[in-house]
Amino acid sequence: MRIDKLLSEMGICSRTECKKAAKAGKICVDGIPVKAADIHVDPEKSTVTYFGETVKYKKFTYIMLNKPEGYISATDDPREKTVLELLGEREQKLGLFPCGRLDKNTLGLLILTNNGELCHRLLSPKHHVSKVYYFKAERHITEDDRKRLESGVMLDNELTKPASLSLCDDKMSGHLTLTEGKFHQVMRMLEAVCNKVIYLERVEFAGIPLDTSLERGKWRELTADEEKHLESFLK
Ligand code: URA
Repeated sequence: MRIDKLLSEMGICSRTECKKAAKAGKICVDGIPVKAADIHVDPEKSTVTYFGETVKYKKFTYIMLNKPEGYISATDDPREKTVLELLGEREQKLGLFPCGRLDKNTLGLLILTNNGELCHRLLSPKHHVSKVYYFKAERHITEDDRKRLESGVMLDNELTKPASLSLCDDKMSGHLTLTEGKFHQVMRMLEAVCNKVIYLERVEFAGIPLDTSLERGKWRELTADEEKHLESFLK
């Protein structure tokens, strides 16, 4: 691939900056300065450095964010703070977008990626990818409520898919596992049994748990195993 494409895709520099850096001898391929920005390199086989820093090429990037309150799951917005603003300067240039949405005041695990095909697969209702939410409710959840939440309540004129609910001892909080992602689904499911969500946090997505060492508002790249696990949904 062209070296300027590689560097701009990795969020290192713009194509114009690449041209300048190449002219100044600041880009090397296997230790040899390149003079032009349009030369081709095989990023799997060659070592590219930019101002002495080795550039690691990855076709796709996957980020785990521990979303705080007050941010919307969007890439840009004229009024609201977006989850993209929580990433680093380089990561903001990688074309990442949130894989699904968490409401502005929902906390926890949000995956961001630039792999559109995988994101589509993970969100497609056909594939029943699981999401686990920890919630606190305003009132006790009765055994009857639990059965209704698990077997399906009416939202948007259809029954929600079977869910699994594990209640904490206080019967006012617990973990709800869903395999679909309707708008405000957890909040509306609780409303359907005459209750109200007062705290909501996603703790797992597609079998990947939220890394509890990640502080609220912080992010990290997925590990190689987590990436492999997510990409297995494409097979
Ligand atoms: N369900 C909700 O109600 N809100 C979210 O953010 C996610 C699931």
